[in-house]
Amino acid sequence: MLFIICALVACVPALYKPSAEHAERSGRKLDDLKQGRQLYIDHCGSCHQLYLPRQFDPVTWKKSVHSMETRAKIDTNQRQLILWYLTSE
Ligand code: HEC
Repeated sequence: MLFIICALVACVPALYKPSAEHAERSGRKLDDLKQGRQLYIDHCGSCHQLYLPRQFDPVTWKKSVHSMETRAKIDTNQRQLILWYLTSE
């Protein structure tokens, strides 16, 4: 169990921190991207590793986040924020 916790925590710093540049490039609000990152960390890492945003393309992310919605117990708004974060690096 300790190993699993360490593995998850070690993964978080690898997740990019949204900057004004990311926001501008993706056309999202910086606050939305920051919120998405936190939601992703809070809701998506309990069953498996936190996959890195660059690991999948936007189309694949959209499908994955949709298919994880029930499991992660997130609402539509949270799903949208997570998806924006994951596709804006
Ligand atoms: C309650 C457990 C649980 C939670 C919470 C969860 N997942 Fe998953 N996830 C799984 C399982 C189990 C799989 C294995 C494949 C399957 O059943 O689809 C999986 C697979 C995946 C995959 C596919 C990996 C691959 O190699 O193809 C992605 C991407 C993913 N999850 C993203 C997310 C995201 C994003 C969230 C948060 C919105 C999330 N998961 C929350 C259980 C969970």
